[in-house]
Amino acid sequence: MWIPAVRCTGLTQRFGDTVAVDNLDLDVAPGEVFGLLGPNGAGKTTTIRMITTLLKAPKGSISVFGVDVASRRTAVRRLIGYVPQQLSADATLTGRENVALFARLYDVPRRTRTERVAEVLAEVDLADVADRPAKTYSGGMVRRLELAQALVSAPHLLILDEPTVGLDPVARDGVWARIEEIKAATGMTVLVTTHLMQEADQRCDRVALMHRGQIRALGTPAELRGSLGPDATLDDVFRAYTGDRLGEHAGTMRDVRSTRRTAGRVS
Ligand SMILES: Nc1ncnc2c1ncn2[C@@H]1O[C@H](COP(=O)(O)OP(=O)(O)O)[C@@H](O)[C@H]1O
Ligand SMILES: [Mg+2]
Repeated sequence: MWIPAVRCTGLTQRFGDTVAVDNLDLDVAPGEVFGLLGPNGAGKTTTIRMITTLLKAPKGSISVFGVDVASRRTAVRRLIGYVPQQLSADATLTGRENVALFARLYDVPRRTRTERVAEVLAEVDLADVADRPAKTYSGGMVRRLELAQALVSAPHLLILDEPTVGLDPVARDGVWARIEEIKAATGMTVLVTTHLMQEADQRCDRVALMHRGQIRALGTPAELRGSLGPDATLDDVFRAYTGDRLGEHAGTMRDVRSTRRTAGRVS
């Protein structure tokens, strides 16, 4: 039987009058890189927070590899590695100490912990700087450290919320190269949010365009581009489905502030 890595059915979340996620149905297939795309305020982070069990879904249901999120939170958490949009590394600790903290948090067996921490630091290409405080790291290195934290428990599903925001193209490629290597080695599923259409086009097997809490289009990047014409880009697709220009969508003050904070701390 085919079990989706993530299945959301009728998922809804409100904040006051704002419907952040609006009756969302979504399946992520095992082993794929799935991109949740949309402008600031589309509802991407809210969706992710419900999938990761950090935020309760008042309406609808979610399962992760067939495990129900509402009734089996702990079991679901064991399956997921999560790189949040906001900073999750402690600047005063070394890279190794940061990853070791997550290894304890995620119950990596004590016997293999030291070895596993070293292994995952090497996988994200931080072995040489592992004993330097994280505050001496570049933006790309911090993001790779956060990747190591999320991967230390060898999750089946890696969830990344805007993993490359504020990074230069070389650092962005560095983060993606590590993700793709580890995915090739383990077969893990990757769910990623981004507002960078070009990045999604290049890296994702399938994408969903999210706008105002709803999915407006879903398919492979090639399918979505092809539906518009031979020269269309994913940016064109987004504009066609939402009527908004991605770069011009203002979002609320709250959205802009939160994006800036994220961009500021990694640059
Ligand atoms: N904790 C919160 N309190 C109030 N409003 C929120 C909260 N979190 C998100 N929102 C609102 O919900 C909508 C979706 O936000 P979010 O999920 O962060 O979008 P995205 O990640 O796509 O930028 C936005 O209008 C945002 O302002
Ligand atoms: Mg977000």
